[in-house]
Amino acid sequence: MKAIVCSKIGSIDDLTVGDLPKPSPGPGEVLVQVKAAALNFPDVLMPEGKYQYAGEPPFAPGMEAAGIVAELGPGVSGVSVGDRVAVHPWVGCFAEYVVSPVDWLFRLPDEMDWKTAAAFCLTYGTIRHALVDRGELKAGESLLVLGASGGTGLAAIEGGKALGATVIAAASSAEKLAVCKGRGADILINYAEGPELRHQVKEATGGQGADVIFDSVGGDFSQQAIRSINWGGRMLVIGFAAGSIAQLPANHILIKQIELVGVAYQGFSRRMPDKSRANMAEMFDWWQQGKLHPHIGGIYSLDTGIDALKAMRDRKAEGKLIIEIG
Ligand SMILES: NC(=O)c1ccc[n+]([C@@H]2O[C@H](COP(=O)([O-])OP(=O)(O)OC[C@H]3O[C@@H](n4cnc5c(N)ncnc54)[C@H](OP(=O)(O)O)[C@@H]3O)[C@@H](O)[C@H]2O)c1
Repeated sequence: MKAIVCSKIGSIDDLTVGDLPKPSPGPGEVLVQVKAAALNFPDVLMPEGKYQYAGEPPFAPGMEAAGIVAELGPGVSGVSVGDRVAVHPWVGCFAEYVVSPVDWLFRLPDEMDWKTAAAFCLTYGTIRHALVDRGELKAGESLLVLGASGGTGLAAIEGGKALGATVIAAASSAEKLAVCKGRGADILINYAEGPELRHQVKEATGGQGADVIFDSVGGDFSQQAIRSINWGGRMLVIGFAAGSIAQLPANHILIKQIELVGVAYQGFSRRMPDKSRANMAEMFDWWQQGKLHPHIGGIYSLDTGIDALKAMRDRKAEGKLIIEIG
């Protein structure tokens, strides 16, 4: 089958478009004919050996996809060949076929198109778990989203608005912030220009600081952000797209009695598949109520999909990038 192939751990510049054997579903797994796959930042990290879980070369990157169930492995029930589904097996999705454990398979609403479906589960699953389960974000609180025009960032804006928060979007350009505004952000902060992020957040919150911080960027941005948090705030550690892991000072945790809260969606959904499935059902409900609108920032094919990975690495992506396949 045709796929984007990582033949050795090194750089996404070494990826090729080629052939891989069509996988077979094992016990508890299904084979899905992929219609569309969506990018997530770890797709850039995994071929470079920088992600906590690695594929074994040769492999196809790609954490999530939507498509049609083509074959059931032994012991699988509750799903049929021909069903329209989204899956997030964490690897293998940039290919014509992918195998996924049935725990990470979600049947799609009839009216959800393939591109939206491919872009949906990992991103909204992450923000639901982050904002509600881990951050306990409440109506009337303020939510600061770093990297707000990225895939998880835009979803966090929508989630924050749906939960009744005032959302402060922070990103690196006016163009990116315009996309954030289109997704409902109340206050826009350009952290590449103007006063330091912490001063802009303080000013935007009447001197109080943000109640909850969604930090998928890391590095200096985290250092700045923790200095702009409110008393009793929760800082959600989501990821490190900027490439460095912040060393956050414990005195800030003490002085403002804040909580530094880890969010690991993959670990959560492995350990608590039933809870994860209930969260996803709620996200599909929100989508059907018109509260969520995945922003498709670019559409590629298997032949051009490596360009999508480079755009994400080079900080040129907005929202979700899609590889159309079937
Ligand atoms: N913990 C979890 O469960 C979980 C789940 C999903 C994702 N994540 C993590 O969250 C992070 C974001 O993922 P994503 O899929 O949302 O990525 P994305 O769409 O590429 O968004 C990342 C954002 O980070 C900002 N950024 C700042 N410095 C950057 C740099 N040097 N290179 C690239 N981007 C940079 C960019 O916005 P500006 O240019 O505006 O700064 C970009 O929009 C990743 O680290 C990912 O592993 C974690």
